[in-house]
Amino acid sequence: MQHYPLEAYGELAAGVPQVLFSAQTIEERVRELGAAIARDYAGRNPLLVGVLKGVFIFMADLYRAVTIPAEVDFIAISSYSPETRERGMVRLVKDLEISLTGRHVLFIEDMIDTGLTLHYLLGILQARRPASLEVCVLFDKTRRRLIDIPIKYRGFELPDRFVVGYGLDHREQYRNLPCVGLLKPEVFQGKE
Ligand code: XMP
Ligand code: MG
Repeated sequence: MQHYPLEAYGELAAGVPQVLFSAQTIEERVRELGAAIARDYAGRNPLLVGVLKGVFIFMADLYRAVTIPAEVDFIAISSYSPETRERGMVRLVKDLEISLTGRHVLFIEDMIDTGLTLHYLLGILQARRPASLEVCVLFDKTRRRLIDIPIKYRGFELPDRFVVGYGLDHREQYRNLPCVGLLKPEVFQGKE
């Protein structure tokens, strides 16, 4: 796919002086993940479930790279408060539209950090009795993990630094950058 050059993003590109993963690198890896999923789930009509909003760009590319019959659905969550967020507790603000019962469900996340959010959400999905439930994450901050979660498909490992682009935001900005990089400290100042 033809991507806009980074310079085209002017002010946004200036906020991300250090690119960790170029658009092309991400694209190639997403295609590999899609091919692996298509191979493993052939004949099982998997349901790809994503958490909005961060996952929407990854999901759009991954879903097209999964070249078998497959379905897609989304949930949206919000944290109750900073304290409950630390324990990974979140509120569903948009539920799934497709039933999970008896389905082969692949949970798609843009980012896993401590793992608390994912752990909590997997509990909610498991209670709906899918035939199988596996996890695919694009970016993994392995060193920050507090809870062990089996991840079947992993895109890239990330250092313990705040990144933006390819759906990941800082205060709702930078999601449209086609690459992923470190946000300039002046912009970030420790606030997500
Ligand atoms: P936990 O710690 O529960 O959190 O695994 C995962 C969620 O934290 C957000 N997150 C980030 N978002 N850049 C972002 O834009 C980052 O570097 C980053 N690290 C964590 C993200 O929403 C993810 O779903
Ligand atoms: Mg965010």
